[in-house]
Amino acid sequence: MDAERLIMKPSRVVMTQKSEWSVNSDLLVYCLEEEKNKVPVSPLFLKKPVKQAYDLGDFKAKKKERLLLYPSVFSKKKEIKAKRILVMGMGKIDKKAGKNETGETLRLLGGEMAKACAELKVKTATVCLPDIPSLGMDKTAQMITEGIILGDYRFLKYKKTSVKKDDYTGLGTIRLAAGKQVAAARRGMVLGQNAARAACKARDMANEPGNGWTSIEFAAYAEQLADQYEFTYTCLEKEEMEKLGMGGILAVNQGSAIPPKMVVLEYRSGKPADTLLLVGKGITFDSGGISIKPAAGMEEMKYDMCGGAAVLSAMQAVGEEEPDVNVVAIVPATDNMSGSGAVRPGDIVRHFNDVTAEIVNTDAEGRMILADALSYGIKTYSPDGVVDVATLTGAVIIGLGHHHTGLMSNNDKLSENLINAGAEAGEPVWRLPLTKDYIKQIESTVADIKNIGGRPAGSITAAAYLSKFVDKTPWVHLDIAGTAWNYTEKSYIPKGPSGICVRTFISLIRNWKTGMLK
Ligand code: BES
Ligand code: MN
Ligand code: ZN
Repeated sequence: MDAERLIMKPSRVVMTQKSEWSVNSDLLVYCLEEEKNKVPVSPLFLKKPVKQAYDLGDFKAKKKERLLLYPSVFSKKKEIKAKRILVMGMGKIDKKAGKNETGETLRLLGGEMAKACAELKVKTATVCLPDIPSLGMDKTAQMITEGIILGDYRFLKYKKTSVKKDDYTGLGTIRLAAGKQVAAARRGMVLGQNAARAACKARDMANEPGNGWTSIEFAAYAEQLADQYEFTYTCLEKEEMEKLGMGGILAVNQGSAIPPKMVVLEYRSGKPADTLLLVGKGITFDSGGISIKPAAGMEEMKYDMCGGAAVLSAMQAVGEEEPDVNVVAIVPATDNMSGSGAVRPGDIVRHFNDVTAEIVNTDAEGRMILADALSYGIKTYSPDGVVDVATLTGAVIIGLGHHHTGLMSNNDKLSENLINAGAEAGEPVWRLPLTKDYIKQIESTVADIKNIGGRPAGSITAAAYLSKFVDKTPWVHLDIAGTAWNYTEKSYIPKGPSGICVRTFISLIRNWKTGMLK
């Protein structure tokens, strides 16, 4: 008989108007700001223990500091229903700091809350939102909600229900309390929740192994989103790709037993508005093909679909928020295998836009599937801006490590918008140059281009390849090979896939102004 598996339910987030004391939570959370050589300011009933802890040097309300109290220490008059009280430090909040920086502080605080909840194994928590005038209640609620949900993420689908019955599966109910500022807090909470849930969905897809998440699952998930949110769903199957001349994705798929799919979701704002095209690399496993990868660490290549996961997950938030801009998402999906039909080094393919390419290395497959998706998407949907996102090159890890996503582009305005969106999301992006000298590196003697450009500037020559498929359309390429997993360690970023770029895209879309690229 099949062992029972742990099933994760998304936690319920409630903006409560009940008094925080009257709620029966496992944990009641207060956030205090660190003061310069002074006892941190706290609600009246916490004054004594906070001062005592401060005088002992145990708690100054620095970032990550915690003070755990039990209601029985307070006088009987205070009827606190919560089982525990957690006082958390926020550090000093610099009033002159920008909203992005303060927002990230609170997102990290939310992540710390989730960690504390996991350590105490609590199922319900009530958070008294701190009042931070420099940020405003809506952003405060948004960032804390985002941090908690992102920090509470775990992937337990393939784990047996544990030997120890008290296995922790995450928070059940999260209550936020904001006193009189409930309306602003609720607005922020909804935004935070939409973004965080979308990013968690991307993490779920990424955590699925190569046999659990294939092109078929990509298509099924997109179709489900279309049903739920009234998007238009299209999926190009292998035969259509053949008819359309998508030689890149077909070549990559040749060594696979699983069919390729070009998955398309279309959201229409119903207004005269710009169209944004998002394209995500959906390689559900990258063995390298005939140019096979070394065995050590190859299992990590199940994450090679994080770009595709990011664009579909962003569509989930688009469905929740119905923004003012049209959004089309395309995921070219296949695995890269070395079956008997596999493409050979030296083979020449013809892409959708008639550009021919010599495949020198079958492990440079991402650019080949993206090439068809980009040129097809631009021709079919005439977008005003295009963003592609891909775990494209190991070289970007050498250049930027795990702390910045690499950006390459033909357009300064769109680049700036993405850099700002990334900064707002706590997902920093760094632009690399893409000038014609790099494009020379991919010239081929037998075809229009070749799919590798040698060791120097490997990330940029990959972008140079893509640039042949976007013409003059404003376009940004994001290389997330360094940030899609093993991303900067943070309280709200668990080990494994980060869900990178989902929240960046959501931020880009929320801030989009039609005509802004003109
Ligand atoms: N999926 C990989 C890139 C990658 C490498 C992502 C390491 C995450 C971690 C991509 O398809 C690839 O294999 N790129 C090659 C390109 C090379 C053959 C020009 C690479 O970076 O080694
Ligand atoms: Mn590869
Ligand atoms: Zn790859």
